[in-house]
Amino acid sequence: MAVLTVLEYPDLRLRTRASAVTTVDDAVRQLIDDLFETMYAASGIGLAASQVDVHERIMVLDISATKDEPRCFINPEILAQQGSASSDEGCLSVPGVTEPVNRATKIRIRALDRDGRSFELEAEDLLAVCIQHEMDHLDGKLLVDYLSELKRLRIKKKALKQRKRAPMDAPTTKPAY
Ligand code: NI
Repeated sequence: MAVLTVLEYPDLRLRTRASAVTTVDDAVRQLIDDLFETMYAASGIGLAASQVDVHERIMVLDISATKDEPRCFINPEILAQQGSASSDEGCLSVPGVTEPVNRATKIRIRALDRDGRSFELEAEDLLAVCIQHEMDHLDGKLLVDYLSELKRLRIKKKALKQRKRAPMDAPTTKPAY
């Protein structure tokens, strides 16, 4: 397993639309293991392959406090959604930023597991939010896209400045994904 480098906004590679996985093989399982290791190392609660510059529709998450409920989703699709609520979100690719985002509160999704088997899941609250956030990554969409132009610009400027000063040091205090 390996801790991979997480791309940070405004890196344009984060804007790539990921392709569907056609075969769930050992290479995919290796990537899933690496995604988990990278996510846990960064104290994140979710990570999409897009964030480590692999543009395949794969994402992992673990929203448990004890960090022992790993979930992975391959080719996830939303079958149904309901409700709408705003909650604070962070993102490992936008370190140091926490902003409210409006999302469906309850979703039903279908995906493949690490053995390539199809499954469906009903999720609500944080799990639903996290899944929607990671699915955005697979489409090249980021947390900052939900903010005003002005706010986005401010975050971009700050990110570029911080990267120049301390490329590896980007503290995140809130759960990020
Ligand atoms: Ni994120």
